[in-house]
Amino acid sequence: MISFSSSSICFIIFLSILLFDSVLLCNGGKTSIYVRKAEKTVEMPLNSDVFQIPPGCNAPQQVHITQGDHVGKAVIVSWVTPDEPGSKTVVYWSEKNCEVKKKAVGKVYTYKFYNYTSGFIHHCTIKNLEYDTKYYYVVGDRNSKRKFWFTTPPPVGPDVPYTFGIMGDLGQTYDSNITLTHYERNPRNGQAVLFVGDLSYADNHPNHDNVRWDTWARFVERSVAYQPWIWTTGNHEIDFAPELGEKKPFKPFTHRYHVPYRASQSTAPFWYSIKRASAYIIVLSSYSAYGKYTPQYQWLEEELPKVNRSETPWLIVLVHSPWYNSYNYHYMEGETMRVMYEPWFVEHKVDIVLAGHVHAYERSERISNVAYTIVNGKCRPTKDQSAPVYITIGDGGNIEGLANNMTEPQPEYSAYREASFGHAIFDIKNRTHARYSWHRNHDGYAVEADSMWFFNRFWHPVDESSQWG
Ligand SMILES: *[C@@H]1O[C@H](CO)[C@@H](O)[C@H](O)[C@H]1NC(C)=O
Ligand SMILES: *[C@@H]1O[C@H](CO)[C@@H](O)[C@H](O)[C@H]1NC(C)=O
Ligand SMILES: *[C@@H]1O[C@H](CO)[C@@H](O)[C@H](O)[C@H]1NC(C)=O
Ligand SMILES: *[C@@H]1O[C@H](CO)[C@@H](O)[C@H](O)[C@H]1NC(C)=O
Ligand SMILES: *[C@@H]1O[C@H](CO)[C@@H](O)[C@H](O)[C@H]1NC(C)=O
Ligand SMILES: [Fe+2]
Repeated sequence: MISFSSSSICFIIFLSILLFDSVLLCNGGKTSIYVRKAEKTVEMPLNSDVFQIPPGCNAPQQVHITQGDHVGKAVIVSWVTPDEPGSKTVVYWSEKNCEVKKKAVGKVYTYKFYNYTSGFIHHCTIKNLEYDTKYYYVVGDRNSKRKFWFTTPPPVGPDVPYTFGIMGDLGQTYDSNITLTHYERNPRNGQAVLFVGDLSYADNHPNHDNVRWDTWARFVERSVAYQPWIWTTGNHEIDFAPELGEKKPFKPFTHRYHVPYRASQSTAPFWYSIKRASAYIIVLSSYSAYGKYTPQYQWLEEELPKVNRSETPWLIVLVHSPWYNSYNYHYMEGETMRVMYEPWFVEHKVDIVLAGHVHAYERSERISNVAYTIVNGKCRPTKDQSAPVYITIGDGGNIEGLANNMTEPQPEYSAYREASFGHAIFDIKNRTHARYSWHRNHDGYAVEADSMWFFNRFWHPVDESSQWG
């Protein structure tokens, strides 16, 4: 016979109240009942395993790759040598044809930041790769050679399945390490990462200690040396420190991370686009001018009409500062950019907008707020099937900790929000369907804490939402 103690009955009642609360009492979507203990995030110390310097004389470290052209047939390989420039050559070969070793020669850069001097930062673009092919590549000299591999994407086309991981505001704490580990072990197997900005958080250290840029790059090498991460700049990339004599914004970032911005006729590495498989990815900069007549504005105005949804059905935008955010952090920081660009996003039927900045998770309904004209009073977001879903995923686990103070009541347009660390996966199946899932760090690797099927806005613009009132 089973007997319940009064305390366990109390607990069950308590739990059901919590559950009912979350389902019945909120005005908008769902605020998760999962309340994470507000712990302090702690940076991994400099002698942590994840920061280890590879053995060997002047061995290449901080190896990372990103897409190197507009269509996915080139890769930018980057690495740092600590003591001397060493070899600028990448030796590479395809798995299909390992007899033919090819070489590409890159360039070396260094920079100073206050009293920090960088190592020798190498960037080398490998071009004319075959699609859908595994390549091995080697960097370094004689006895400190290091070998890695990557797989090129399939040819650009409308029904090509492809799986993107999504991370933001990662930093280098123990929680950051858990986020990356969960991404790596997710059975959905991300093939490339869409990174929504705020990489190392070096600027939280005295004098923006750029050693923390080096440690960060060593930490994430285990993923980004093998699959491209698509970079967005966040506020922690600005590194504007006139008090240190550092007056040129984005100095560490632009030296360390090269992106293929010229391939999309951009004039700066902060806004650009790439095609990858069935996706067209537009990266925007919250911290570069975006008002009318600015370079970014002109570029985006010309860029959006170029997207051919018969070729790349999925239109994805990355930006750092969210436009729709119902946390009491960075509240309305994205508003001015929203006012400038949201009408274009609706006109061009963007599928999904990914942002970071707020250290928590939130997913919106399909909504827009484009009807407002100052005088007409129509200033509330309304349901709009031509509008993107907005995801805030600044929950990588950086040193600044979790954002857990939410505006109440939850706005109607907010479909799901939760203050937990995690990552997401955007798993494109074909031109009409993509499986999206968000995975909180506290669950097992395969658990989807939030998920939905995305229906493509061009090919299948059917309402996916279940609960808009
Ligand atoms: C830079 O200056 C700070 C103090 O201003 C000092 O603690 C640090 O050791 C210096 N670093 C180098 C590389 O000289
Ligand atoms: C980081 O995560 C990896 C993989 O789970 C683990 O091997 C390593 O020990 C972790 N390091 C720290 C400092 O937590
Ligand atoms: C759009 O892409 C399709 C498929 O690749 C192609 O047939 C068509 O010509 C393209 N349209 C334009 C306007 O370039
Ligand atoms: C949450 O944010 C609001 C608005 O900024 C503030 O008034 C309130 O004190 C905050 N609550 C907590 C618990 O920090
Ligand atoms: C697209 O993918 C979805 C989900 O896997 C599937 O249900 C649908 O049948 C596919 N469409 C086509 C035309 O294959
Ligand atoms: Fe940020």
